This record gives sequence, C-alpha cells and structure tokens, in this order.
Amino acid sequence: MENVVLDNMQRPLRDLRISVTDRCNFRCRYCMPEEIFGSDYSFLPDDKILSFDEIERLARIFVSLGVKKLRITGGEPLLRKDLPTLIKRLNQIDGVEDIALTTNGSLLKKFAGDLFNSGLSRVTVSLDSLDEERFATMNGNRSKVQTVLDGMQAASEAGMKVKVNMVVQKGKNEQDIIPMAQYFKEKKYTLRFIEYMDVGNSNAWKLDEVVSKQEILKMIHEAMPIEPILANYHGEVASRFRYTDSDQEIGIISSVTDSFCSTCTRARISAEGRLYTCLFASGGYDLKDLLRSGQSDESVTDMIRSIWNNRSDRYSDERLSHTHHKTSPKVEMSHIGG
Ligand code: GTP
Ligand code: 5AD
Ligand code: SF4
Ligand code: SF4
Repeated sequence: MENVVLDNMQRPLRDLRISVTDRCNFRCRYCMPEEIFGSDYSFLPDDKILSFDEIERLARIFVSLGVKKLRITGGEPLLRKDLPTLIKRLNQIDGVEDIALTTNGSLLKKFAGDLFNSGLSRVTVSLDSLDEERFATMNGNRSKVQTVLDGMQAASEAGMKVKVNMVVQKGKNEQDIIPMAQYFKEKKYTLRFIEYMDVGNSNAWKLDEVVSKQEILKMIHEAMPIEPILANYHGEVASRFRYTDSDQEIGIISSVTDSFCSTCTRARISAEGRLYTCLFASGGYDLKDLLRSGQSDESVTDMIRSIWNNRSDRYSDERLSHTHHKTSPKVEMSHIGG
C-alpha cells in the first residue's frame, strides 16, 4: 500500500524543499537586505551544513514517508560546490518523480549543461524586472538583467524547462508586470507573479506594499486577455491562467490575498538541517543532530512522521485576521529558500 503520512488537517507529506546553502550572491531587499546581511554577517560554517550524504539519507527517509517531489533551494543553490553531483544522487532515489531547482540565474549559464546531465529537467529562475535600474535596486546591485536572461537561455538550450518567478512589490516594480508578461509569453517560459510576503524578520514588510492577485490579473487581462485553467496537480502553489490567443500560461502565487494552506503538502529542510513545517515557522526541528548522533533510519523516520502528524501550520490563512503580526522570529527565507 502507498505510504501516506497525514498531518492534523489531513494534509499528506508530498514535497520536500531542501536548502543547500544559506549564502547568496544577491542582496534582494525583500529577502537579504544588505544592511543586515553585510560583510560582518555570519553565515553557516561548512561543518554546520548538511553534507551530500546526509541530504541523500534524509531524502530517502522522506520518500519512504510519501514525498514524491524534491526542490533544491538556497540562498543561491548554485553556490554549493558540486551541486550537479547531489542532483544526480537524488535522481537515483526510487520514488522521486520530480526534481526542480530554484535559482537567481546568475550562475546558470556556467552550470546548465552539468545540471541537465545530472538529470535535472527543469529550473525556476527568479527575475523581478527587465529594467536594469529597477532590477539592480531590487537585487542589491549584484547582477545585470542580461546575465540572468543568458542563464535562462542556456538552461533552455541544454534541454530544461524554464519557469520564471517575479516578486511584485508596490512602488518598486508594478510597472514591470506587463513588459515581463509580454517578454516571457514570447519566450514561452511560464512566468509566475508572487505576492510580496512577510517572510523572515528583515524585510520590514507592510501590507500596503503588496500588489494583490486580483490587481495583477486585471492589469494583465486588460493588456493581454487571459482565462483560468486547471491546476497541474492537487495543491499547486500557483493558480494558472492562459492567454486566450496562445497556449502560453502564467501563474499567480497569492500567499497574502488568496492563501493555499489547506492543500499545503510541503516540508522544508534548512541548510543546517532543521525541518520546518511552514515557510513562516520559527524554530524548526534539528534533524542534523539526530543524524549525527548515530540514530537509525527507523528512529529518524519515526521522529519525522510524528512531527508531520502533529503539524497544524496555516500561517497564510491566519495572517490577515491577526491584529498584530507574529512576534516570535521567523526563519529567514535565505535559510529555507521560499
Ligand atoms: P512548481 O513545482 O513548479 O509548481 O513550483 P512551486 O511553485 O512549488 O515552487 P517555487 O519554488 O517556484 O515556488 C514559488 C514561490 O512560491 C516560493 O519561492 C515561495 O515564495 C512561494 N511558495 C512556495 N511554497 C509556498 C508555501 O508553501 N507557502 C507560501 N506562503 N509560499 C510558498
Ligand atoms: N516575498 C515573496 N517572494 C519572495 N522571495 C524571496 N523573498 C520573498 C518575499 N519576501 C522569492 C524569490 C524567489 C523565491 C525563492 O522566493 O524571489 O523567487
Ligand atoms: Fe534574492 Fe533569492 Fe538571494 Fe534571497 S536567496 S537574496 S531572493 S536571489
Ligand atoms: Fe504551507 Fe505555511 Fe505556506 Fe500555509 S503558509 S501554504 S502552511 S508553508
């Protein structure tokens, strides 16, 4: 019989998002603002980060509990040495149906061929603007637009499917919604608009900086008519729309104005080996110590099963009904990669 582990709200464990580094070569203001993640910020030393052996062991255990989909994240995952080797190892695990990678694209041109050869069939690249000045402002002046576009092109030419993630922030890049939509419609990459979220503790998030799903849809529909289409799979994060004059689709990820916790099947492991059952969780559970203290696979599996069984997270569903924002510190986005 198929292994299904359910949480408190009957949600199965299906996806595992694995962060392979807390470092990034960008300083996006909504994620790792320079004044906090500056030259004196202490990133994790190598011995505090899960090794490939430990990641593979955990991935096997999660797959035995029902996980079918793996996503590699960071920080910027391509900063992790030999990443294609890890992908190759994860790809060999029986029961893994899909592996994806979320990257800022700056190193993608260099690694696209190796990633494809390691078995990676798709990548999701973050890009918030096609305008050099606005892109530089948003990423902390770390990259040119063309570098990221070249990365996408290399990934596509190597044989991978490319998706693009654009975080939309009021006053920063709403004017880029239409140009991005037009450009990626032509390129035939699926573009997903992400509502700006209150992740981590550093971005000074305000609700009035969110451009809502409805506002984004209206803007696009007026310029280029769209219609809703069905989800690819149960619990898909993005709601999907198709241009009425083509097969090309877009997605909207609306954690703030139209949350999707009721179908959330995602567990996250930080680079330092903590398990988080929600993007907005505080502490997480230390799996690294468990692995390094000589526990058997059975006992690690039991521990994870019990954590998932007790899970009741639904932060986004509750966010707007709170008069005050959550006061305990949340895990940083750069530790669990979104
Ligand atoms: P596909 O497998 O291509 O459907 O990807 P995905 O949408 O599951 O993954 P991706 O990393 O592209 O997700 C895009 C963004 O959506 C993330 O970076 C987060 O910002 C946001 N996101 C993903 N999962 C969750 C979630 O469980 N909760 C919330 N609030 N946001 C999420
Ligand atoms: N709100 C919404 N999306 C965010 N991301 C990072 N920080 C935020 C935020 N505060 C996105 C990145 C990337 C993915 C990992 O998460 O742009 O696409
Ligand atoms: Fe930007 Fe992603 Fe790096 Fe965060 S991890 S600073 S969102 S590129
Ligand atoms: Fe899942 Fe937490 Fe996001 Fe809700 S807020 S969809 S529970 S990760």
